[in-house]
Amino acid sequence: MSEIILGLSAYYHDSAAAILKDGEIIAAAHEERFTRKKHDSSFPINATKYVLNEAGASLDDLTAISFYDKPYIKFERLLETYHGFAPKGLTSFLSAMPVWVKEKLFMRKMLKDELSKIGQLNKKQFLFPEHHLSHAASAFYPSPYEEAAIVTVDGVGEWATTTIAHGRGNEIEILRQLDFPHSLGLLYSAFTYYCGFKVNSGEYKLMGLAPYGNSDDGHTRKWKQIILDEFVDIREDGSLLLNMDYFNFATGLTMCCEDKWEKLFGIQRRESESQLSQPYMDLALAIQQVTEDIVFRLTDTAEKLTGCEYLVMAGGVALNCVSNGKLLRRGTFKDIWIQPAAGDAGGSVGAAYAAWHIWKKEQRKVIPGQDSMKGAYLGPEFHFSDMERTARKYNASYEKYSDFGRLCSDVAELLTQGNILGWFQGRMEYGPRALGNRSIIGDPRHPEMQKKLNLKIKYREGFRPFAPSVLEEDILDYFDLDRPTPYMLLVAPVQESRRNTLPENYDQLPMYERLYHLRSDIPAITHVDYSARIQSVNKDTNGKYWKLIKAFKDKTGYGLVVNTSFNVRGEPIVCTPEDAYICFMRTEMDYLVMGEYLFKKSDQPVWKGDDDWRSRYELD
Ligand SMILES: [Fe+2]
Repeated sequence: MSEIILGLSAYYHDSAAAILKDGEIIAAAHEERFTRKKHDSSFPINATKYVLNEAGASLDDLTAISFYDKPYIKFERLLETYHGFAPKGLTSFLSAMPVWVKEKLFMRKMLKDELSKIGQLNKKQFLFPEHHLSHAASAFYPSPYEEAAIVTVDGVGEWATTTIAHGRGNEIEILRQLDFPHSLGLLYSAFTYYCGFKVNSGEYKLMGLAPYGNSDDGHTRKWKQIILDEFVDIREDGSLLLNMDYFNFATGLTMCCEDKWEKLFGIQRRESESQLSQPYMDLALAIQQVTEDIVFRLTDTAEKLTGCEYLVMAGGVALNCVSNGKLLRRGTFKDIWIQPAAGDAGGSVGAAYAAWHIWKKEQRKVIPGQDSMKGAYLGPEFHFSDMERTARKYNASYEKYSDFGRLCSDVAELLTQGNILGWFQGRMEYGPRALGNRSIIGDPRHPEMQKKLNLKIKYREGFRPFAPSVLEEDILDYFDLDRPTPYMLLVAPVQESRRNTLPENYDQLPMYERLYHLRSDIPAITHVDYSARIQSVNKDTNGKYWKLIKAFKDKTGYGLVVNTSFNVRGEPIVCTPEDAYICFMRTEMDYLVMGEYLFKKSDQPVWKGDDDWRSRYELD
């Protein structure tokens, strides 16, 4: 009989469920996609139902249920942090305590209560691997390496904020651990907060803002020095000590002591959604540079301690694809693999793998050059009858193609005309990125594409260019990157031959003039520093998306398209055909492709009665 393990992450942010059957990942999904509440942290009841269903299993069939952290130790951290900083932290301690006592401390009972809403739950084995062990397991076990150095970096788990470990066969040995409050993730989040973005979700915006910083300008250099002198003591091995005189996260309800920061930097905390001025861009660059220094020292230490040729990473900081790209180019490791769901949602996969390989002591089956995450296409897939049902419900008009090749050719033609399309195929992605199954796509050569996508589809004045999806075999034609990057976790430079010269005063131009200047022949995906956040598309892993991009190449000579996630600002990525149709109708998207159905906007009935939807979604 098969052994089935359910992995869960919940109650902090980005709840998720994952399921392994005899060690093979069958399904994984974020709860937010079902509840339509971004970063939903509640018990992942919908995601759990889905993964069980996908595995053809009931609760009773489970060998174990593995939760991604140890609630007791986390509770101890809260208590000790309170004592360490008393009486400074009394307010937050009092507000956090009742929740902990009532809910989190009795996790086993709570999980049982929640799961019993789904079905019969007889005596079951509950496991609680530590938070960073879950991250480490999510990075190492599905990786294509028999042996690797493991680095996990996030805000905080129970106590750990960073670990270095050694993965070999089915074993993970933790070699170094850095504890709360000394945390690279929280340091980065404090700057995210100070620059006016949301903690735990706006970090990628800070990273995208950094290329606008002027590195030759006095600000960035001076501020980097201030960060190193005042905020953080970085040791040779990458461990660090934060000066808690400047941070509030251990005791307060905010991230940093704003008055002290204001004195040091001479700028106030930026109001969310207010205009972005040069000093915030310089500050973003300063903290990005400090982050990279720390990550490089940590990974150098990991190499020294393990002697490994390969590195795997997880934890929120591993989503910093700018630092990942530079890390790869430093050449410390032959190659790097990063868990696509590197944040806490990925803890569910990691907890399940930890149960299988550590608790059950099962061996791994490593296929060199191929990871086990199945392209991260681990979410729900819908039948053509679901699409037809949605179409009937909204009286929608569509054309059905019996020949997928002809559909791709027609879609490619529509892209060349500057149209923007929703592309909905196969299984939904696991992890924060849309990888061509729930994507909005466009022509990367089009001079107006960035502006159009930002203003008419995403309804934001985004300052980041979009990401390209490029045929895996064509990467080098466009980017200075010699290997696949299927999960959009590496940033690399656009090839010099494709770049346009910039005006002399480029660095002094206002932000949006810089953004909309045509920097290359693929301007929609080229950032202001000529970098791009790349997804490579493999013919076998995602044949449909590959065929579409190939059809676009056949028409234009360009083997890449713009790929942005299928959602509007602040909304979770669409899950069902109905979510997709609604998003298509609310925005100024020109066409929608679902399976083999093509919906043209101008043929649809008038969309009505839904004007308040924008106020429902908050910005990161
Ligand atoms: Fe984490």
